[in-house]
Amino acid sequence: MRTWSKTMRQDQPVCYDEQVSGWRLFRYEDILQVQNDYKTFSSEPVGGESLSIIGMDPPRHSKLRALVTPAFSARTIAQLAPRVQQIAQEMLANALPAGKMEMVADFASPFPIFVITDLLGLPAEKRPYVKAWTDALATGSLPFEEVGITMAQAIEEHRQKPREDILSLLLNAEVDGQHLTEYELLGFILTLLIAGNLTTTQLLGNAILCFDEHPEAWDQLRQDRSLLASAVEEILRCLPPNRGTGGDRTIIGGRIATTDVEVGGKLIRRGEEIYVTTISANFDEQQFSDPERFDIRRTPNRHISFGHGIHFCLGAPLARLQTKIALDLMLDMIPDWRLSHDVPLKQIENPIVFGAQKLPLTFSSSR
Ligand code: HEM
Repeated sequence: MRTWSKTMRQDQPVCYDEQVSGWRLFRYEDILQVQNDYKTFSSEPVGGESLSIIGMDPPRHSKLRALVTPAFSARTIAQLAPRVQQIAQEMLANALPAGKMEMVADFASPFPIFVITDLLGLPAEKRPYVKAWTDALATGSLPFEEVGITMAQAIEEHRQKPREDILSLLLNAEVDGQHLTEYELLGFILTLLIAGNLTTTQLLGNAILCFDEHPEAWDQLRQDRSLLASAVEEILRCLPPNRGTGGDRTIIGGRIATTDVEVGGKLIRRGEEIYVTTISANFDEQQFSDPERFDIRRTPNRHISFGHGIHFCLGAPLARLQTKIALDLMLDMIPDWRLSHDVPLKQIENPIVFGAQKLPLTFSSSR
């Protein structure tokens, strides 16, 4: 993948891909041109309204995003740390006596689901639904009817008894003097669930893959925990959960040219679609020195795994917090974990998310 991206960056950095009927961008600079200019490169799907802010342009995008921006600010998210820590600690503690766990099923998958259901204000008994929806999403079979019914119940309960959570915040919110419709509410909640779960699961799993390949970096982290934040950024750069934007613009937004425009010396015509290759941009030699090196001290590290510009990932502070807390606890509780390679690792069945289906770990030490 990396060798192929490198060849593409050099030979065909802006290339028309017949398979997806759109342009694929490989260079960091070209991708930023697109992500920085929402007027020329629209996120809105052709001929339809998006259910999610990911697929909206200003002014609607700005108004809706502003409703939840305070709830997702780095400051607000930092206040969640004790609760997030408690959730992660309990999950790891459950696995300790056995001396082994399957990282994806036992931790990386349920952990973000517990956190986000709490944050949104969905009751604990709805967690299995959220998990099922996230799994269904991976195979492209999200049961919209079931989602609608479960969410409608939760919305009704919140209407009767408002709480301090995101669902209550959205129920009370007004845009242009009007409350959100139930359709808009559902879209918002689903966006947060969908955009936040699988991606965070894969980031946690990809952290294991990175440290399995670079055990010296894990040792470095064991000796110096102040490197946690920069380590998380390097994992994001080297193994981003999202490879880029695939063929489905409604999940992680591609863009459509609103006018004829030149990108990287190629003419893109009005109405044509554009896909971003995140993994290529993150290894662009023009932006990163020695890009092939996994360096947990790398700074600055301006990877684009969370996107860039007005659609920059709303949940980035939450994803970062969860990953830092998880790694910190692993350093405390299972510092000598090993990934078993007895069975070859398999990529999850999802064209745009990058990560392993299963990650069997063994460990001997505990606290
Ligand atoms: C947007 C990646 C976690 C919510 C985005 C975008 C990317 C991304 C690349 C930009 C899409 C575009 O430009 O069209 C990731 C990754 C994550 C992660 C790699 C984890 C490692 C989360 C979490 C949440 C979240 C935890 C919320 C709970 C969102 C939302 C948007 C978004 C709401 C849309 C923002 C907008 O359109 O203004 N994410 N995300 N993400 N992300 Fe994340």
